[in-house]
Amino acid sequence: MSAFQYEIDKDGIAIVTLDLPNEKVNKLTVQVMGELNTLLDTLAARKEIKALVFRSNKAGSFIVGADIAEIQGIQERDAGERIARKGQEIFSKLESLPFPTVAAVHGPCMGGGMELALACAYRVISNDPKTAFALPEVKLGILPGFGGTQRLPRLLGLTNALDLILSGKSVYASKAKKIGLADVVTYPETLLTIAVETAKKAVGKPRPNGIRAKRPFPVKVLEGNPLTRPFVYWMAKKTVLSETRGNYPAPLAALDAVRYGLSHGLTAGYQNEARLLGELACTEISKNLISLFYLNEALKKDPHPSPVKISFAGVLGAGVMGGGIAQLFAEKGLFVRMKDINTKAVGAGFKTAADIFKKRRKKGILNPIQARNGLDRITGATDYSGFNHADLVVEAVVENMDIKKAVLRDFEATAKEHALFASNTSSLSITELALASKRPEQVVGMHFFNPVEKMPLVEVVRGKKTSEETVSAIATLSRKLGKLPVIVNDGPGFLVNRILMPYLNEAAMMLEQGGTIEEIDRTLLQFGMPMGAFLLLDEIGIDVANKVSDILLQGLGARVKPSGLLGALYKKGYYGKKNGKGFYLYEGKKRNGPDTSVYQMLTAPPTGGEKMGQDEIVDRAVLLMIKEAALCLEEKIIDRPDLLDAALIFGIGFPPFRGGLLRYADRLGLKIVIGKLEAYSKKYGERFTPPASLLSMAKAGKNFYA
Ligand SMILES: NC(=O)c1ccc[n+]([C@@H]2O[C@H](COP(=O)([O-])OP(=O)(O)OC[C@H]3O[C@@H](n4cnc5c(N)ncnc54)[C@H](O)[C@@H]3O)[C@@H](O)[C@H]2O)c1
Repeated sequence: MSAFQYEIDKDGIAIVTLDLPNEKVNKLTVQVMGELNTLLDTLAARKEIKALVFRSNKAGSFIVGADIAEIQGIQERDAGERIARKGQEIFSKLESLPFPTVAAVHGPCMGGGMELALACAYRVISNDPKTAFALPEVKLGILPGFGGTQRLPRLLGLTNALDLILSGKSVYASKAKKIGLADVVTYPETLLTIAVETAKKAVGKPRPNGIRAKRPFPVKVLEGNPLTRPFVYWMAKKTVLSETRGNYPAPLAALDAVRYGLSHGLTAGYQNEARLLGELACTEISKNLISLFYLNEALKKDPHPSPVKISFAGVLGAGVMGGGIAQLFAEKGLFVRMKDINTKAVGAGFKTAADIFKKRRKKGILNPIQARNGLDRITGATDYSGFNHADLVVEAVVENMDIKKAVLRDFEATAKEHALFASNTSSLSITELALASKRPEQVVGMHFFNPVEKMPLVEVVRGKKTSEETVSAIATLSRKLGKLPVIVNDGPGFLVNRILMPYLNEAAMMLEQGGTIEEIDRTLLQFGMPMGAFLLLDEIGIDVANKVSDILLQGLGARVKPSGLLGALYKKGYYGKKNGKGFYLYEGKKRNGPDTSVYQMLTAPPTGGEKMGQDEIVDRAVLLMIKEAALCLEEKIIDRPDLLDAALIFGIGFPPFRGGLLRYADRLGLKIVIGKLEAYSKKYGERFTPPASLLSMAKAGKNFYA
């Protein structure tokens, strides 16, 4: 069965409908592209056709792009280049049809789908919030290879085109019209009628050419003048490098594709674009990013949706996390009751939530009505009034077991029988907390990451007595909230903080041995971490890190003994960003350079002479994470390496281009990992001793990933 159907109306308007059989969405597979090629030949020969409208028959979606599985399968440059050349040829054929063409777009129009729409002479789009254009190829480590890097700058101008191509971001209806990507915006219901009208009006007229939108004065001059245009490229490259530190080749290649095409003409531009696509598609970085894409998709899908209905949630503790959690629940339509110990603290929780709503409104993620209605769904109290309605309560009170047990008991005294109790604790035992409960099977960990509105991960922690119904209810809710749940078993620091803390601690150890804050942070940033270890410690709070370190020490023993520096700083009142005293200097919200007074708190004077190379900095910090990750698998905190990798990427931003911590370990080779751990253990002690599971895996020639 063909993916395309067409009909020609009495006025000679051909309406081509794409509806990929047995798929929820339209994808441009090699086969679909082949069918399109044949169809275009047929249509070109039909003399009665005056104009053409291209549409999708999938509910709420135009075309989501090329087939990612096919991109993943590309192993040789030539193969990638050939696929791109063929795609370019087919879209050029579409562009050169002897009659006007209109893309009628409703829903996502992504990647190859957007390149198809660009090859049409006009784009008529619906004003539905789901309608969005994007060229997200760079997020998969490749570039738009069906002519996108050539057509887009010619349609939108250089600055707007680079903004889309280099970031992969989505553009929604009103902006699409403003920048000239869409010609007409209409209601979904009238989309086809208006697209047909547009096609009729275009009959006999030349294809519109050149940049469609008005651009502001400096932009127009800068990119229009060959002498100043290099400045636009220079700025774009600078932004890419500062965001990626050169770790991601795709945006730089895409920049090259745009620049080359504009200076050498379309024919050479297409050739260069296809060549670059072939090169990028074979890189390990692209393969890693594609694996991550699949993992993200898999985590979004609910294998066993829970029937438990959660429409009213209580939040205990209206601090940094409580305020953020209340906002998230309310934005997603839940009614929320927040409780704290006094009205000032409740007020602070409201302010946190209101500020997030405001930010999201300004960014256009929410409209003013959605933001106001969201905030209206939150109420506050200093007692448990109203908590008897809650289907779920999430506690985010201070990290203290006695206080957490007390609020659990208080809540249960007023709660509905089936209400769930979730703790946002970073490290305290869920099993131990549940000892205070009359119904421990309804007690679970729901560990959000800071800031709640941005971080995609929720660690769902299964205590010894937590029921599977409770775990599944929290996982389903997390997905409804737009988060990615990873289910882990209870244990000190659960999964993410247990692996993160040895890394942060090692950074402090290196400081004690004469390293510097700048050098260590810069090196870890260059490795690909989203921020250096000391900056992260300041963000988390040195007080919090100190507490979590102690909990890990109690639970896991001497091998995770914290550096004396963290304790010393905590005792001197260095809590990090929250009180403006940390590894860095703060002036209000502004962060300055490192705070050198930290060096005076080293428990032993720095040796100074021991110059640590960048390789050693990365090795020591990352090898300890690999060791802890191996132990987490051994102890069944989690049972799948890919889920462990996902938790670290989505929870702490472990560099996505490396594909995950355990993929990185496999890439190094487990024998090498062990050799390095042994060498460091001779030098620095037992914290580096390789775990038994790692030794036996290496001996058996196994990897984390099969
Ligand atoms: N801050 C983070 O980065 C982060 C990340 C993940 C998890 N957590 C966890 O979230 C929890 C809260 O952390 P936070 O950073 O929001 O702390 P916070 O200090 O900002 O807020 C804690 C709030 O709890 C309130 N509180 C104390 N006793 C209470 C009681 N009996 N009833 C109601 N409220 C009470 C306090 O008044 C305060 O407003 C902790 O368990 C922490 O480990 C924190």
